[in-house]
Amino acid sequence: MRTAIVYYSFTGTTRALAGMLAAPLGAELAEIGCGRYGAGGLSFFRAAVDSVLGLLPEVAPLPQLAGVERLLIGAPVWVGRPATPVRAWLRARPPLPARVGLFVTASGEGTGRALEELRRLAGRPGAPGLAATEAETGAGRLPGGADAFLAALG
Ligand SMILES: Cc1cc2nc3c(=O)[nH]c(=O)nc-3n(C[C@H](O)[C@H](O)[C@H](O)COP(=O)(O)O)c2cc1C
Repeated sequence: MRTAIVYYSFTGTTRALAGMLAAPLGAELAEIGCGRYGAGGLSFFRAAVDSVLGLLPEVAPLPQLAGVERLLIGAPVWVGRPATPVRAWLRARPPLPARVGLFVTASGEGTGRALEELRRLAGRPGAPGLAATEAETGAGRLPGGADAFLAALG
């Protein structure tokens, strides 16, 4: 089954998790590009303020997802919400396949709420979700619950 993983990553953790999930699924990776949060300390504050206020940035177009039968969408948690580039991508209402799974990474707090927001934005209230901490991902292992998540994707 053709599977893709669309994600955004500011500091590399979500990218690492996307890579770990891609292996068992044989998935293609598509990273959302966004120039608003570059290097430098100010970017952290800009990201936090944007996330709280819902100020959604410009994001680069992604390759066509036509023909993808299963899609995972991944985001870092920013102040309890999915990072704004993922929200911006979903706001453009890309066509999504029937099978959608969602994942978030965080240092610890706000993953449940962020997953709920992703479900709402994707229009998939029952989609399987996976949350991982930076520590788990940094150690190069899939988080607890990954097996159930992968199985629930169908
Ligand atoms: C602006 C900003 C806000 C964040 N807010 C939270 C938060 O509310 N809860 C949390 O546990 N981690 C928070 N973090 C930490 C990130 O969610 C965590 O480092 C994530 O794994 C980073 O993913 P990335 O490396 O793919 O960008 C925040 C990080 C940033 C930059």
